[in-house]
Amino acid sequence: MNHPGFKPGFKDWMAQQQNHAEAALEKALPVSTVVPEILHEAMRYTALGGGKRVRPLLAYAAGELSGAKADTLNAVACALECIHVYSLVHDDMPCMDDDNLRRGKPTVHVKYDEATALLVGDALQTQAFDLLSTPALFADPARQLRAVHVLARASGSRGMAGGQAIDLASVGHQLTREELEHMHLHKTGALIRAAVLLGALAGDVDEPTLEALDRYAKQIGLLFQVVDDVLDAVADTATLGKTAGKDAANHKPTYVSILGLAESKALANEMAQTAIDALANLGEKAERLRELAHYIVSRQF
Ligand code: IPE
Ligand code: IPE
Ligand code: MG
Ligand code: MG
Ligand code: MG
Repeated sequence: MNHPGFKPGFKDWMAQQQNHAEAALEKALPVSTVVPEILHEAMRYTALGGGKRVRPLLAYAAGELSGAKADTLNAVACALECIHVYSLVHDDMPCMDDDNLRRGKPTVHVKYDEATALLVGDALQTQAFDLLSTPALFADPARQLRAVHVLARASGSRGMAGGQAIDLASVGHQLTREELEHMHLHKTGALIRAAVLLGALAGDVDEPTLEALDRYAKQIGLLFQVVDDVLDAVADTATLGKTAGKDAANHKPTYVSILGLAESKALANEMAQTAIDALANLGEKAERLRELAHYIVSRQF
């Protein structure tokens, strides 16, 4: 697939949505003068002022397509980012990947302590459902309940947490390509898939559209982790804002360790094209989602 460069306006749109997500998180997270101060300070430390906000961006793009209201999308974006940040805080703990740098800053267990990191994750996870279950957040309560269900399923043992369990159990093992895909679809793919679906559910789309979006999102979720694996192997720590080369150091099976660098990159390009193809019947209103596919496959960090 060619990367023609981004259409005029895409970078501005992206910056604008990232600002919306930041402002909404800033407002949603308890201030650090509220008891327990350290927990609230640590939640804000890790959630604010960093990250690419890819899950919010996907939700905003799907929300444009579904005609969702801005306030609804902001809450959805926050909920997704809270789950994601919780997963990062726990992923970095000594009992998991044991990382000391995240988004260019010391990880939560390094800056504070392990108990705080554990609780920050717990609290961000429930914060997500607190936000998403806000009464009358969606015009249609049935759609809102469906969104809560989608996020819960994507986060738990049949989604992200399950994928993380497989990741830890796979250290030092040679996985087949099918096993690796299964792991990636869960640990990273599930939440990305939920991001697109939640943006769509926040507005109004028919089931065939939702199915097309789901096919797009499944590919994007897998693609996102393939690119993460590639970047871990080729980018430097300063650019990534997290320790480069960690997968090899931790003996993690990755797309790079199984397919090699060149094949992983080729596969990522194929996946981006498959994702875009899934949107074929959705016309101009799916353009942001197509642009995001290009962004995700060509990102440098
Ligand atoms: C990193 O996610 C962890 C994965 C699920 C691959 P991101 O690359 O989205 O991290 P931030 O949010 O931009 O820091
Ligand atoms: C993380 O995968 C997936 C989740 C946090 C759910 P990685 O362990 O590859 O993420 P990074 O590379 O530390 O960001
Ligand atoms: Mg990990
Ligand atoms: Mg990690
Ligand atoms: Mg990684």
